[in-house]
Amino acid sequence: MKTILKNTLFLSLLSAASISFAQLPELSTPTTATGTETTAVFLGGATADNGATYANSFAFDAPIDIDLEIQVEAGHVNTVGNIYVIIVWEGSYFVLDENGAYQLWDLSVENFLAAFPGKTLQSSEPINIVNDVAFGPAGVSDTTMDFIIAYDTMAVANEFFYNGIPLSVTIEEEVEEEPPVAQSLQIFTDSISGPIIQGNCIACHTGSGAAGSSALLYATISLPSFLQVNYTTLVDYINQGNSATLLSKPTGGSGHGGGVRLQASSTDFQNLEAFVNAVLAE
Ligand code: HEC
Repeated sequence: MKTILKNTLFLSLLSAASISFAQLPELSTPTTATGTETTAVFLGGATADNGATYANSFAFDAPIDIDLEIQVEAGHVNTVGNIYVIIVWEGSYFVLDENGAYQLWDLSVENFLAAFPGKTLQSSEPINIVNDVAFGPAGVSDTTMDFIIAYDTMAVANEFFYNGIPLSVTIEEEVEEEPPVAQSLQIFTDSISGPIIQGNCIACHTGSGAAGSSALLYATISLPSFLQVNYTTLVDYINQGNSATLLSKPTGGSGHGGGVRLQASSTDFQNLEAFVNAVLAE
């Protein structure tokens, strides 16, 4: 997964000079390595709508931009320094090197690679991390990445300036879409199974009932899968060309051995018709 992160996501880089961002949220707690106060400002955000809104959590497949910006201390403008991008991800630290690749970082100063080394610092240093990247399909999901940006300057020895609270970006896990329920199954579940099959027809239409030799035998609710079994029985019966028989017998037509079981004007009969039509349409 980490290889994927390195290879896929972050090849896109990074023209620090030419970009500017509209209304990046300010990141709290500007911090220095020695604990000295700083007036540097750190901004950053992740957005799925090109900066109209910023969020911390995104759907698996949402293409997002992640942008960061450092506003260096006034006294550091036009001094030479380095800009660093750090990602904390699943317990590991990565630093962005000047070639745009993320390197695992052991937190040592000698391996602290700058993304923009030896740079004349401007009052605003925008850093685009990714543009329109959908992390989930790239193999990064159900996870949170924390972004820290830092700089140092030759004007102040042995000091780093950074956002003390990282920018946190969560990529949610993939949500399996529920397959749509067939309309006929919905009607059967809501209006046929209980009132018509279990409440009426099943009095005769079981293996041991008066209609035991007919083609329509239903499972009682003692069978856990009765609903699915009876649905399949009726769908098969209808698809074998028996829809006219199914609608005529219960109203007493076609010499139904069980006589009139449903009034043609009843809601139950209308539901049975709607069910037959839904099966035929599917
Ligand atoms: C009182 C008993 C009884 C009840 C209740 C009953 N039936 Fe029947 N049904 C029969 C008998 C007996 C047969 C077999 C003779 C025939 O085909 O009419 C039959 C056959 C059928 C058939 C023809 C099946 C085939 O073999 O093709 C259909 C359709 C049917 N019934 C529908 C219904 C429906 C729908 C209900 C419930 C609303 C229902 N029946 C309730 C007794 C009943």
